[in-house]
Amino acid sequence: MIGTPRVHHRVADSTNERAKALARAGAPHGTLVTASEQTAGRGRQGRTWLARPGSAVLMSVVLRDPPESLPLAAAVAVVEAVPADCLIKWPNDVLLDGRKLAGILVEGRPQEGWAVLGIGLNVSTPAADFPAELRDIATSLAAALGEAPGTEEILAALVARLDTRLASPLDEVLEEWRRRDALFGSEVHWNGGAGTAAGIAGDGSLLVDTDSGQVALAAGEVHLGR
Ligand code: BTN
Repeated sequence: MIGTPRVHHRVADSTNERAKALARAGAPHGTLVTASEQTAGRGRQGRTWLARPGSAVLMSVVLRDPPESLPLAAAVAVVEAVPADCLIKWPNDVLLDGRKLAGILVEGRPQEGWAVLGIGLNVSTPAADFPAELRDIATSLAAALGEAPGTEEILAALVARLDTRLASPLDEVLEEWRRRDALFGSEVHWNGGAGTAAGIAGDGSLLVDTDSGQVALAAGEVHLGR
């Protein structure tokens, strides 16, 4: 069961860091770490993840023998837990009205058979509270919908969807992911080229039609430009 045991911190450096420490110390599959506030929240590519205290779901879960579908299944679980129509931007940003609502950071030790899945989901942050440079690219449920459930309610829905989606067959995860593909048909560019996004392959790589044929971009190796 995802979510048991649960450790809640009023303030933590990063729930991913706390969950990794617990994983190394032998914490069981499903151990959930949450925080009301992070002092060193981290995103992908070494970015900082900022959230006003109490305004976001900040969670990390220890997974023993995680499925290969993990990053894809996590994004699908997030969109299904949210009471709004969200899309997924490869590799696994969750967008609402074209702005980032939630981010996913998977870390771990595949050789030791564990991973930590970290999710940050903006719930009650008013639009005006996002720093000016993020206002056009980030959102929260409250900012997009005018109102939002509490963070505990969203967390409960998220844990339930993770329980289901981490156990779903890959083809079902892929089908749902593809239905929510924010990039399909749009122009993308990366440091190695540019083309038209054409969906994702079964291993989660992004397919792109270019002038010289279709290429597959591996998540974690290729970063799309903004
Ligand atoms: C991203 O989009 O770059 C990923 C953001 C992940 C943020 C979450 S918040 C909870 C967990 N703890 C962290 O330090 N990061 C993840």
